[in-house]
Amino acid sequence: MLRTLSHRIYPALIFAISAAAIAGPEEDRNALRAFYEQRFPGIELDAHVDGAYALDADKRAQWLEMEDFPPYEIAIDDGADSYDEPLADGSSYAECFGDDAPVVKHHYPRFDPASGKVETLEQRINSCREAAGDEPWDYLGPQMSALMAFIAYESRGERFAIEVPEDPRAQAAYEDGKEFFYTRRGQLNFACSGCHVSMAGNALRAERLSAALGHATHWPVYRLKWKEVGPLHKRFIECNSQVRAIPLEAQSESYRNLEYFLTYMSNGMALNGPASRK
Ligand code: HEC
Repeated sequence: MLRTLSHRIYPALIFAISAAAIAGPEEDRNALRAFYEQRFPGIELDAHVDGAYALDADKRAQWLEMEDFPPYEIAIDDGADSYDEPLADGSSYAECFGDDAPVVKHHYPRFDPASGKVETLEQRINSCREAAGDEPWDYLGPQMSALMAFIAYESRGERFAIEVPEDPRAQAAYEDGKEFFYTRRGQLNFACSGCHVSMAGNALRAERLSAALGHATHWPVYRLKWKEVGPLHKRFIECNSQVRAIPLEAQSESYRNLEYFLTYMSNGMALNGPASRK
């Protein structure tokens, strides 16, 4: 079934790639917003922070019931505890994150001029830990997800303000992430954009395909399927596997660049993490 659909979306994809090739990040973002505005005339762009639940009334009703007793609450509490615990050398995450800590999530991922690469919040947490003499955490592990959940919770309501500075390395990282998003891969030969742009709003098996706008606002996420809180890169791994592509490592450079692009597309949207999803 996926194969048949992939032929139908091809012209739209070509257009997306060629239109995007000549544009900078801000033009890309405006073009994507205009696309969804046209595709979903009755839906405010800001509503896409709720993903598929912005597009499907029945699923939304079930989801709101789930949010009555948020399954990610324990993770927020655990994260608050570890945030307050001093690091090995007696310093704190607050000192390491800077003045606005712990309200920092809307500035990540960011371009780090020292390394010339994209730095995610998870990487920042681990560099704070290592600089203080602590072991780094597993990027997919419960400790990392709990601290991320706490920071996300504290950052709720802030609006993404991701920057792609003039530095050519930053621009290259952004372009790399964008290319990843629009490139077909896997045995099913699907790009991220195939499902989340061209086919957004359509049903795929039991699921409704969410718009890519808002994809970054609500992480980490408690998923019923995972039975735990997990990060955005875990979802990348899953979406790559769905099209039978070999997924990359969480926090690999390609996934960080993808996150950079995807989060830039959500610039101006309000953070609403952590969240729950089926
Ligand atoms: C074959 C179709 C397909 C492809 C290709 C695909 N996804 Fe997905 N994706 C899904 C489905 C189905 C879901 C669950 C329903 C939803 O939220 O859209 C999902 C969910 C997501 C979510 C979670 C949305 C939320 O509200 O929490 C993110 C983020 C995401 N995909 C990103 C990506 C990225 C990035 C790529 C490319 C690496 C990609 N997807 C490729 C089908 C796809």
